[in-house]
Amino acid sequence: MAYENITVDTKGAVTVVTLNRPQALNALNTAVLGELTEALAAFDADDSQRCAVITGSGDKAFAAGADIKEMADKPAADFYLEDFFAGWNAMTAKTRKPWIAAVNGFALGGGCELAMMADFIIASENARFGQPEIKLGVAPGMGGSQRLTRAVGKAKAMDLCLTGRMMDAAEAERAGLVSRVVPHEELMDEAMKAAEAIAGMPPMAAMVNKELVDAAFETTLSQGMLHERRLFQILTATEDKAEGMKAFVEKREANWKGR
Ligand code: HXC
Repeated sequence: MAYENITVDTKGAVTVVTLNRPQALNALNTAVLGELTEALAAFDADDSQRCAVITGSGDKAFAAGADIKEMADKPAADFYLEDFFAGWNAMTAKTRKPWIAAVNGFALGGGCELAMMADFIIASENARFGQPEIKLGVAPGMGGSQRLTRAVGKAKAMDLCLTGRMMDAAEAERAGLVSRVVPHEELMDEAMKAAEAIAGMPPMAAMVNKELVDAAFETTLSQGMLHERRLFQILTATEDKAEGMKAFVEKREANWKGR
């Protein structure tokens, strides 16, 4: 499939998706959403692919936000009637396999929100995160007010949303927004290593682990614990559970079946 705004490469069982509008700092427009939705759906449906990495082209930006030029003259009724931004949610909800955001520079507004849609974020030392929508007379529209608050807590989320300031990678790591910070030139190696480690796990267990951590944001502790126990119990019926435990006892590498 040929894309105009992203590139998609497969490296073994890892799909690498690169936002590719460097002239606009990889700003996210409707065409990017369409292509990204297609690419992630294809990744999710492909049994040979186990983990994806999403990053930005160029040295400067992961994505500097939703495309302001696309939104500038759009009437409010169109935003409402098109349910503008709803597609991002649909895309995220439909992707059951794990995907990592490798943030290589600015991740602002929709760019920060896209990074937060991923299962976790690995950041280069050059990464800058922020929700500067307030400076444009609006507010986050792709989940920023909700996911950022869950990730870093009210104090810092309010600070970022109300002042529109950026935080650097070190602050983002301290705040719990990103899982790792690495030197800029090591970003893709580190992200690929993490993705390959995930791709080497039994795939159903990877999907279940993702589903369970996500459930923690949606439910009560007792419901979440029940969900966890039930999925644990279901996994015990898989061939990969039998193989994983047998391989441990026999002190050998497991040979996953994916079921
Ligand atoms: C469209 C963008 C863009 C964006 C940058 N560009 N961000 N185009 N949408 N979000 C374009 C610029 O217009 C410029 O194009 C080129 O990319 C390079 O950007 P510069 O501003 O010249 O670069 P620099 O001076 O280095 O500044 C980098 C920056 C700045 C600090 C990241 O670009 C910036 O503040 N961008 C906007 C960040 C932002 O507000 N994001 C939130 C968007 S709203 P030309 O053609 O001039 O060379 C959002 C959610 C909206 O995401 C929800 C509400 C409905």
